[in-house]
Amino acid sequence: MNAHSGKHTADATTVEEGLAIAEAQDKQFNDEMATETAMQNTLLTPRFYTTDFDELDAIDVEPVRDDWDKLIAQMVADPNKGHFKKNEDWDHIDWENMEPQLKKEFIDFLISSCTAEFSGCVLYKEMKRRGTNKDVTQLFQLMARDEARHAGFINDALREAGLRVNLGFLTQKKKYTYFRPKFIYYATYLSEKIGYARYITIYRHLEAHPEHRFHPIFKWFREWCNDEFSHGEAFALLMKTDPKLTKGVNVWWIKFFLTAVYATMYVRDHQRPAFHAALGVDPDWYAHEVFTKTSKLSEQIFPITLDIEHPAWQRNLEKLQRANVRIARAKEVGGIGGKLSQLGGSLAAASAFAALYFIPSKKHRVPENVRLEPVY
Ligand SMILES: [Fe+2]
Ligand SMILES: [Fe+2]
Repeated sequence: MNAHSGKHTADATTVEEGLAIAEAQDKQFNDEMATETAMQNTLLTPRFYTTDFDELDAIDVEPVRDDWDKLIAQMVADPNKGHFKKNEDWDHIDWENMEPQLKKEFIDFLISSCTAEFSGCVLYKEMKRRGTNKDVTQLFQLMARDEARHAGFINDALREAGLRVNLGFLTQKKKYTYFRPKFIYYATYLSEKIGYARYITIYRHLEAHPEHRFHPIFKWFREWCNDEFSHGEAFALLMKTDPKLTKGVNVWWIKFFLTAVYATMYVRDHQRPAFHAALGVDPDWYAHEVFTKTSKLSEQIFPITLDIEHPAWQRNLEKLQRANVRIARAKEVGGIGGKLSQLGGSLAAASAFAALYFIPSKKHRVPENVRLEPVY
C-alpha cells in the first residue's frame, strides 16, 4: 500500500501528485515493449525537450496582463478535474480478438500519444521547478498538471492491453533535445494547437459516425482538446509579449516549424492505414482538415500561413511519404544495397521537404487581440 492508493491521476491537482500516482500503479505490468517504443528518437517520434529556463523565466506578461489573468483563472478553476478516468462510458475492449494490424497500429498510436503528452509534462514541470517568476511558474505548473493527467489516462487504456509506458524511466533515460526558448514557443504552440485540431476533428467525425468508434478513449477527446486549446492560448500570449518573435527573420523560422509539424503529422499518420480505416477516416482528408483548422487558429499570432491549397503542397507531401516508406524498407534490408537505398530515400525526403518549405506562404495581418475560444 502507498499514500496514493485508491487515487487516480485524473484527480491529481498538481503534476507531482499525478506522477506519484502513476509511479505507484501496477508495477506488475510489462512495460518493456511500450517503453522501448517511447524511448525511440527519430524524426517522426515524439521527443523530450529542454531549453534555457532562465530566459523563459525572465518573460514579463504585463503587456498581456488582462488576457493572461483570465486564461489563468480558467485553468485554475480546473473544469476537467476528475474527467480523465474510466467510468460507465468506458466500453469493454476485446484486445485479444482485435484485428492484428489494427491492434498494432492502435497501440503504436497510444504509445506515441502518451509520449507526446508526457513530453509536454516533463518540459512544463521542469520550467515550473526552475523558475522564480510567479506568472510563468504558475502557468507551467497548470499545464504540467493537465499533461500528466492526459498521459496517465492513455496509460489506463494501454494497461488493458497489458502494456504501459514507464513514465519515471522515460524522464530519466530518454534523450533530451535542446531548443532555444523561441523555438520552444513555435514548436509547442503549434503542437498544442494541432493537438486540439486533431482531437476535435476525430471527436466530431465519431459523433457523426459512432459505428466507427472502436475504442472508448475517443469519447474523452472533446474535454481533452479543450485543455490543449488553453495551452496553445498561453503560448500565443507568451509570444505576444515580444513582437520580435513574430517578425523579420523569425517569420522564416515560423514557416519552418509550420512545415515540419504538418509534414511530420502527414507522414506519421500515413504509417497507420488500418487505424484510419477503422475510424472511417481518409488520412488525406484528415490531414487537410487538421491543417485547415490549425492554420486558421495560428493566424491569431503568426503573420503567415502555409498555402496548403497550392498544387505542389499535396504532391510533395506524397513524395515525402513515399521517401519515408523507402527509407524504412531500406533499413530492414540492410547491407550496402540497403544503405544506398536509404541514402536515396533521404535525399528524396530532403528535396520534398525543401519543395514544401519554398511554396510561397500566405501573408495576413495579425489581430490586435490574441485570445480565441475553441469553436470547432
Ligand atoms: Fe495534453
Ligand atoms: Fe497540452
